Amino acid sequence: MTKAKIAKAIPRRPFVAGNWKMHRTASDTRSLIEDIVGRVQKVATVDMVVCPPFTSLPAAAETLGRHSILALGAQNMHQSKEGAFTGEISGPMLREFGVRYVILGHSERRQFFNETDASVSVKAEAAVGYHLRPIVCVGETLTQREAGETNSVVESQVRGSLAHYPADQLDELVIAYEPVWAIGTGKVATPKQANEVHRLIRKLMASLFGAKGSGVRVIYGGSVKPENAAELMAEPDIDGALVGGASLDARSFFDIIQAARPVRASEND
Ligand code: 13P
Repeated sequence: MTKAKIAKAIPRRPFVAGNWKMHRTASDTRSLIEDIVGRVQKVATVDMVVCPPFTSLPAAAETLGRHSILALGAQNMHQSKEGAFTGEISGPMLREFGVRYVILGHSERRQFFNETDASVSVKAEAAVGYHLRPIVCVGETLTQREAGETNSVVESQVRGSLAHYPADQLDELVIAYEPVWAIGTGKVATPKQANEVHRLIRKLMASLFGAKGSGVRVIYGGSVKPENAAELMAEPDIDGALVGGASLDARSFFDIIQAARPVRASEND
């Protein structure tokens, strides 16, 4: 069997993560986590992650306790283990609270905190070194889409953000395609529009990393709601969702998780 055929046979498990952004204090976190855990008990076919603010991670970890059904993620990380970096949080600090994932290069970090492909690349490499799984975000702005630059922008973000990514750690990686114009706006990309970009990312990953690159999960983010989740995730190259606003409501988040398709094989060629 050729390498490509082996990769084709490997199923991509659906992945749904909630990015809480700067919402929920530690005490509010407890009740939201309890509510989510109460609903997702029987979900066995989807990887589920919640990414609360740093200050809520201890409360989230404590509330989850032995409920490893829901994994914890952070929204950012500094690449150094420790040091004179006022206001930053390191990978080992996150690991101490059982954090398994870290969102890197979210468009809000790129837009408001000068995050670049180069900084994301350094962080992604460092994250896997700390046994954290990076969720690397890419996506074009409305101006870029209207100028017909979507593919070139996304391609250069993927190349740049993974420039130092170790090829033997691809199983740990998740890529989130989040068109900036769809984030928090209620304007969702059509399933076809989203899938085109996901397919582009998958092909690029294959050309950068070989057969294993095409097996990396690519999830969609930007106004995902219970009403549109099933349609988006039914697309062959959309492996799940990175959910903002709707993840702050346990019922909505659960409905989105339920919309994730069961395990399927790669359909990339
Ligand atoms: P919304 O779902 O609120 O549009 O946010 C998407 C997002 O940025 C997730 O990271």
